[in-house]
Amino acid sequence: MTIETAAQAAYIVAALLFILALAGLSKHETAKAGNTFGIAGMALALAATIALAVNHGINSLGVALLIAATVIGAAIGLYRAGKVEMTGMPELIALLHSFVGLAAVLVGWNGYLHVEADLGGADAALLRRQELLGIHSAEVFIGVFIGAVTFTGSIVAFLKLSARIKSNPLVLPGKNILNLGALVAFAVLTAWFVIQPQLWLLIVVTALALLLGWHLVASIGGGDMPVVVSMLNSYSGWAAAASGFLLENDLLIVTGALVGSSGAYLSYIMCKAMNRSFISVIAGGFGIEAGPADDKDYGEHREITAEGVAELLATADSVIITPGYGMAVAQAQHGVAELTRKLREKGVNVRFGIHPVAGRLPGHMNVLLAEAKVPYDIVLEMDEINDDFADTSVVLVIGANDTVNPAATEDPGSPIAGMPVLKVWEAQNVIVFKRSMASGYAGVQNPLFFRENSAMLFGDAKDRVEDILRALAEHRVLAA
Ligand code: TAP
Repeated sequence: MTIETAAQAAYIVAALLFILALAGLSKHETAKAGNTFGIAGMALALAATIALAVNHGINSLGVALLIAATVIGAAIGLYRAGKVEMTGMPELIALLHSFVGLAAVLVGWNGYLHVEADLGGADAALLRRQELLGIHSAEVFIGVFIGAVTFTGSIVAFLKLSARIKSNPLVLPGKNILNLGALVAFAVLTAWFVIQPQLWLLIVVTALALLLGWHLVASIGGGDMPVVVSMLNSYSGWAAAASGFLLENDLLIVTGALVGSSGAYLSYIMCKAMNRSFISVIAGGFGIEAGPADDKDYGEHREITAEGVAELLATADSVIITPGYGMAVAQAQHGVAELTRKLREKGVNVRFGIHPVAGRLPGHMNVLLAEAKVPYDIVLEMDEINDDFADTSVVLVIGANDTVNPAATEDPGSPIAGMPVLKVWEAQNVIVFKRSMASGYAGVQNPLFFRENSAMLFGDAKDRVEDILRALAEHRVLAA
């Protein structure tokens, strides 16, 4: 067997491992195995690619550079992955997508320099003989375009997610016309480049795509950012697939298509869960206009102490906990798990209601609760639990805000109008754990805090949960 065939066989195995990885990652129980499949697939793919490069006659300096780049990249990746907080994952992912985009731009430009910029050279002559020159030019152009959109789009997403720039949507006059105009210009320039490849066309499309990527993501408001991250994930996949065509690397095409389609599907599921139009989000906030500022007077809020909450819990027969981003920030999941255990021991029916976009990344809350060993069977999705709030004595809203905001269902003028939310306000008592009256990620006020059956328990969620546990232990409230 030649190295070429062995490498192609390794590519097929790696592609299968990537498919197994995706399948594994779709469930908690198999997520670890899924990760292992992904790592194995990537290690195999890298080894096969290096072997192929050596076989194609790359010199020893090239091999050394390739290995050095792999080792340095792996070291940085390991360091960052080890250090990143769960709450910082989306911005890290957004930053990594920008690398994929940049790589696709560089691969595209490299393809141009080797072929179109040197039409008298051997590579161009070979492609001309095979009548593939036009296809090559189209691949260069499309790859650079998708890559550049992904690059700047991901950078804006990173800046918004890490609060380095405001998360409000940018509303330029005629923004939809601008986006549409950019797409039409791209189509015209592609045709031109295929017929007559020229450097200035490539420069123009690179600049156009960089601006379009920036504008697309800047136009999307904070509430829709989760969808944007998975959409950029999809774009980065298509950018990688485009590079795969240019580099004639089948594995890159397959992997890119897997990432591209799974990212698109995830965006679609998230849009459905948030009742957002998929087309509107991928078209850079098409149809979303800036709303008026919310200066409504919602009245007074009520406060409660940890002891008061302990008393309430002692007499409750059913409790639903709806965690959100604040639980992750406070790292309160272990205390919450302990409280759950204590209440269940006393016969209280405790369940969790998980909103699909609670926290800052898909499955964020599920991961935290699994880490704290909360049994899976009491952790329910929003749709499974939303009708049960009306029959619930106490709801503990732990660091959640947008995902429990009644304005989403009751105020058509709200920026989050139409997003399905956990109907916590239907319960007899709602306790909101947070540090202040500040708004959540979407930046909108929450009328829940001012309802008659709501009370605020201010402070860090972890400290407050521990206070409740202490109150329960000291007063033996639950034993009564
Ligand atoms: P948010 O609406 O973001 O609200 C979290 C609340 O937690 C804040 O109001 C904050 O209030 C409180 N908090 C922060 N630190 C705390 C601490 N140490 N102790 C107690 N409370 C603390 O949370 P959510 O309900 O989970 O909603 C998620 C939002 O993020 C949605 O708008 C969603 O669209 C967006 N988003 C989601 C994702 C995914 S995929 N899940 C990705 C990106 C964005 P204080 O400051 O007053 O404490």
